[in-house]
Amino acid sequence: MALFHTITGNDVQAAATLLRQGEVVAIPTETVYGLAGNALDENAVIKIFETKQRPRFNPLILHLAHASQFSHYVTEVPPVAQLLMERFMPGPLTLLLPKNERVPDLVTAGSPRVALRVPAHPLTRALLQSLDFPLAAPSANPFGYISPTTAAHVSAQLGGLIPYILDGGPAEVGIESTIAGFEDGELVIYRPGGLDLSEIEKIAGPLRLHTSSESPEAPGMLKSHYAPRKKLLFGGPLPADVNNLFAITFRDSLPGLSPENQIVLSPAGDLAEAAKKLFAALRLADASEADAIYAEKFPELGLGLAINDRLQRAGA
Ligand code: TXA
Ligand code: MG
Repeated sequence: MALFHTITGNDVQAAATLLRQGEVVAIPTETVYGLAGNALDENAVIKIFETKQRPRFNPLILHLAHASQFSHYVTEVPPVAQLLMERFMPGPLTLLLPKNERVPDLVTAGSPRVALRVPAHPLTRALLQSLDFPLAAPSANPFGYISPTTAAHVSAQLGGLIPYILDGGPAEVGIESTIAGFEDGELVIYRPGGLDLSEIEKIAGPLRLHTSSESPEAPGMLKSHYAPRKKLLFGGPLPADVNNLFAITFRDSLPGLSPENQIVLSPAGDLAEAAKKLFAALRLADASEADAIYAEKFPELGLGLAINDRLQRAGA
């Protein structure tokens, strides 16, 4: 059902005007494109959930122009959080902090903690600076599907459902932000993402990873997520019959599979390059003639952790 004639452009003021009117707009960030609305306007937040068909129990991240604005929405900023904010914001890091009454419960799905981040993309920074409210924004994909890293990805699925897509080019990082919070004063990672965990460890010391078997403290860390429509086989041995398979690999192509049925993400072996290209490759694989997708397991270090996390969920 088309509600809008969706315009794609780079007019920050046009996006700002629509957001002030309570509409939702797709915005570029360095990680993935977001589906943004006024976080303080419950009707705009409801529109985000409805456009994405996202269950209301799954909370949204607040996007702000500067980390110095966090204190307006939280009751406490632990010293380690302050250090991380100074070092990594703007950038692909989201912090979970205790919210105050300014943040609608709808945004946090009733949780006493709110997720906050400062995106690094220049167009979205300019947009946030021109607004007097924060933007709530999940990734701009239908719930459960692959996150968009270009304006065209957004348009392919949300075209007709939103008035404007702010086009900032392909996302630089290509994988969602790393999400961190505190439990009993200890820093915990809820979602590995675009900020390499070893960078955080340099400041915060050894990290604890929240495993998915624990209580769903971060409800969006759903077991099945980022999923293509085709069956995705992740890691393990290559199936005996590779006909009708589309493969996504790290640095080497797979013998026995035609070049048009595979994507090598980084022949140079650069995990950041692989992360940047991952979601576009999954979309191409999903749109291909193949019956199923095979994705290799990546080295468990740096951005490889985030890549494996996404592929694991995409295959679940
Ligand atoms: O890079 C990103 O983080 C992108 C860009 C657009 O900023 N956003 C993004 O949003 O990935 P989303 O909604 O697709 O994923 C955010 C995750 C969800 O799994 C959600 O459950 C979790 O963060 N989250 C958000 N607020 C939370 C809260 N208050 N407590 C626990 N988890 C929260
Ligand atoms: Mg998402």
